[in-house]
This record gives sequence, C-alpha cells and structure tokens, in this order.
Amino acid sequence: MSARLLLGDSAYMLQTLDADSIDLTVTSPPYDNLRTYNGFTFDFEAIARELYRVTKPGGVVVWVVGDETIDGCETGTSFRQALKFMECGFNLADTMIYQKTDLAFPRHGHRKYPAAFEYMFVLSKGKVKTFNLLRDRRNKRAGDVMSGTVRNEDGTTKPSLANGKVVAAFGARSNVWGYSTGKGKSSTDEIAFKHPAIFPEALARDHILSWSNPGDTVLDPFLGSGTTGKVARQLARRFVGIEISAEYLEIASARINDDLFSDLGAAPAHPGEGERPCN
Ligand SMILES: C[S@@+](CC[C@H](N)C(=O)[O-])C[C@H]1O[C@@H](n2cnc3c(N)ncnc32)[C@H](O)[C@@H]1O
Repeated sequence: MSARLLLGDSAYMLQTLDADSIDLTVTSPPYDNLRTYNGFTFDFEAIARELYRVTKPGGVVVWVVGDETIDGCETGTSFRQALKFMECGFNLADTMIYQKTDLAFPRHGHRKYPAAFEYMFVLSKGKVKTFNLLRDRRNKRAGDVMSGTVRNEDGTTKPSLANGKVVAAFGARSNVWGYSTGKGKSSTDEIAFKHPAIFPEALARDHILSWSNPGDTVLDPFLGSGTTGKVARQLARRFVGIEISAEYLEIASARINDDLFSDLGAAPAHPGEGERPCN
C-alpha cells in the first residue's frame, strides 16, 4: 500500500489533494497554546473546509482535541471547532472520549481535578459509509441465559425479545475508549517520543478498523510523529500525511517506512524535500 508524506502547511497542501478522495482522517491538531510545536500555527477554518472537500461522501474525520485552561476558564476551542465543522457541512456523528487510564503523575490545575480525557469528534460527510463495530467489551454476564423486560412507550413493560438467548462473551464497546499513555505504552518506537505530543497507536488502530476497510485511503493532516501513518500501513490502507515541521516529518518518515521496509528487508528511498512517496 502506498504512503505519501507531504512537508508543508495543511491549509495549502490539502488543496493539492483531489476532491472526494479520502475515506478516513484520523488526526490531532495543536491544542490552543498548550505546546508550541516548533512555533508553527494553523488556519483552522481553511483546513476544516479543505477536509470537507477531500473527504469522500460517507467518509469520516476523527478530530482528537483538548482545551487549555486560562485564568480558571477552559477556552472551549474544541467545541467551537466541532460547530465550525458542522457549518462546513459535516455531521457530528459522535462525541467520543479518549480516556488516559493510568496517568503516572496526575497534575491538577488551580481548583481543578487532573485532566484525564480528550474529545474525539467523529465527523461524517453525510451518512457514515463504513462502520465496523468493535466488539471487545467483556460481558460481565457472559454465559447467562437472558431473561428480562423492556419498557413500552406508555411505561408498561413486556418480556424482552432476547429472552432465552445466551449472553455472548463480548459485546460492543461504548464511545469512551481508554488507553495507557506514556513511554513504552503509546508506542514501542523509541523515536516517536522525540515528538512532544503523540497519541497511542492503539487509538489510531481502533479508529482505522472502525471507519475504513483495507485498500481505503487514510489521511493525517497533522502527522506529527507519524502514528496514524504507521498503523494505516500495518492495516493495509493507503496513506497521506502532512506535517509542517521538517524535524517531525523525519521522525514520521522513519516510523512509517521502517515498518514497511523491515518486512521487505530493503531500505526506503528518500526522493528529497516536499514529498516522500513510498510504494
Ligand atoms: C498534536 S501533534 C500530532 C501528533 C500525532 N497525532 C502523533 O501521534 O504523533 C500536531 C502536529 O501538527 C503539526 N502542525 C502544526 N501546524 C500545522 C499545519 N499548519 N500544517 C501541518 N502540520 C501542522 C505540528 O508540527 C505537530 O507535529
């Protein structure tokens, strides 16, 4: 499967992609001013419009984001972005939670509990075309025979249609996903931690499995250390990544290419600045 890694500002580089060409975007932009990322900024509205243009009908954008707290008040940037995506034409298909399950040194703010989650806005261009439901939540009542009632609209009850069936070992996940984070947990690649803010490979994997199929095209316009690209290739998806910092693109290139080429036993080609195709 091919991967294209582009160096530049997504507000411009997205314009080079064809309309209706991307099945799934899994990405995480800079959050307010929480980190400086070598001083780069981004034009949210231009990128939101371009994401709508390049997404296929029924395609999905997963936007992982959190907010800064300034003088005791959260900025609300994440919600403003979700609403702006809707103005651009996206459906807000779901507001999911990325929970950090084992913070080693939880830090609380001034009169605040330690922050242990971020939002994962699931945005779709029309009706979601691909949904592969993850069924890996262990059922507490696995093996029991079901018996119970369901409530009618008028408040009375009736026997459930599921009565008599055996509870399966696993059921569907909820929309709160928990991950261990930090060194050795978000990724086993040492080089990934040269980037200040990676999300877990498992998070990228779960979204790619949920909203795309093998052979589909996955995009990350804030590529960072290349997490989405690495996992997309492992799962046999085509990939397009954009990153404004040459330093971070080097890290992403090493992670994405290494995975593929260690399997093939060959070294990756580096055709120069601007674009790094690997087939
Ligand atoms: C939160 S990090 C992404 C981390 C990534 N999810 C990972 O797991 O490594 C955001 C990235 O966006 C990049 N960035 C900031 N502004 C950008 C822009 N206008 N165009 C493209 N990339 C940009 C930053 O350099 C940074 O690497």
